[in-house]
Amino acid sequence: MYRLLIIDDEEAICRSLQFAFEDKYKTLVANNFSTVEKYTSMYYFDVILLDLKFGEINGLEVLKYIKNKIPECQIIIMTAYSSIDSSIKAMKLGAWDYVLKPLSLDNLKIIIDKALEHKDLSCRLQDMQDELSTIKSDKIIGKSKSMKDVFNLINKVKNIDVNVLITGESGTGKELVAREIHYNGKRKKGRFEAVNCGAIPKNLIESEMFGYEKGAFTGAIKTKKGKFVLADGGTLFLDEIGEMDFDIQVKLLRVIQDKIVYPIGSEEGIKVDVRIIAATNKNLLEEIDKGNFREDLYYRLNVINVKMPSLRERIEDIPLLVEHFIKKYNSTLNKNIKAVSPEALQLLKTYNYKGNIRELENILERAVILTENEMIDIYDLPYQIINNDNVKISDDKLIVSVYETFDTIEEKVIRKALEKIGNKRKTAKILGISERTLWNKIKKYGI
Ligand SMILES: Nc1ncnc2c1ncn2[C@@H]1O[C@H](COP(=O)(O)OP(=O)(O)OP(=O)(O)O)[C@@H](O)[C@H]1O
Ligand SMILES: [Mg+2]
Repeated sequence: MYRLLIIDDEEAICRSLQFAFEDKYKTLVANNFSTVEKYTSMYYFDVILLDLKFGEINGLEVLKYIKNKIPECQIIIMTAYSSIDSSIKAMKLGAWDYVLKPLSLDNLKIIIDKALEHKDLSCRLQDMQDELSTIKSDKIIGKSKSMKDVFNLINKVKNIDVNVLITGESGTGKELVAREIHYNGKRKKGRFEAVNCGAIPKNLIESEMFGYEKGAFTGAIKTKKGKFVLADGGTLFLDEIGEMDFDIQVKLLRVIQDKIVYPIGSEEGIKVDVRIIAATNKNLLEEIDKGNFREDLYYRLNVINVKMPSLRERIEDIPLLVEHFIKKYNSTLNKNIKAVSPEALQLLKTYNYKGNIRELENILERAVILTENEMIDIYDLPYQIINNDNVKISDDKLIVSVYETFDTIEEKVIRKALEKIGNKRKTAKILGISERTLWNKIKKYGI
């Protein structure tokens, strides 16, 4: 329930207003300033109705006092016609609206509803902005030499308007870097718009990038803004640029050169100021040789090249990344994983990640979900990692997986136990089987 405070020195008015609103809002009344002080210290209010002629004290001073204490509160001024000037002053000081006395309750109800609606909307906007800045600040983790080079380059280019080409294998963080450049650079007030050139069919990519006029083709029932126009003043991220159709490349080049876009079906160009960051995991020079990519476009896009290292080239960053993703998934999955066992970390460091950081992230998300302890252990890692010959684990432990049969697991256990313990009688005892059974198993598995 919203909270409402009525501030007026005329008790009769207070009482009738309280009567009118107390069913809908938690309503309190203050007839003097010390009550105002008391209530605003004790409670939070969504809306305050304030009489500007408030005893000895100037209502504008009361307004300032409240605005200072509860800045998000919506203040509605109640005023007589004769003091309409001070109501205008009150609006300048941050009051939401004013109503004239004698009061019309219906009118007041509408104004309060509007004030609350506006308040809710601004709260939501604030939430969204907060959310956006957490997305924005999705940190890039790494302290290896190759990542330091990337950070340096980001710092150099973020405030200058050059096009950037980010290259690197899949999952190395190309999009993350593109966002970092945008949200930390001078274009951050503009929008970051992304087009995935590989995912959008050829016939749609043109309207996606350049937009169209109403009636430009059947189905164009209204005008659509293209990404270039949306990103005006900001950044356009062209992901998987190596997949872009040759004809579209020609049009893109023209927009980059002229800084004017022509929506489909429009004679009139729109001037745009857009920085382009493109990304690809292809070798564009090879694509040029094969005739798939235009050389002139390549040089336009590749003014600065950021090369993303593969995870293999920065194994020293793995512990940091592991810690980062565990924190991330602890918070999104509401878990409390404190560590990774040394054996599991060893496995994670020696695995050959084809999907780079994205693959490492997926592995850790899965492990955080699966583990029932506070520590991620080898058993929480996927089979392809466990089944990795490069790994040394302490010699009384075994790696088994849920994808193995009981027989295979049994054979592994017996081999390892015999190897560690040596003596067959002792081995049988420790494994809790008879010597005869042990013999049979040794024969069965040809140990
Ligand atoms: N250095 C890093 N620190 C933290 N997270 C990272 C880092 N690099 C990548 N990631 C995470 O890995 C995932 C993949 O990153 P991103 O989408 O930027 O890669 P990409 O190079 O664009 O991949 P693709 O070529 O497959 O599109 C994302 O969830 C991203 O947040
Ligand atoms: Mg990507």
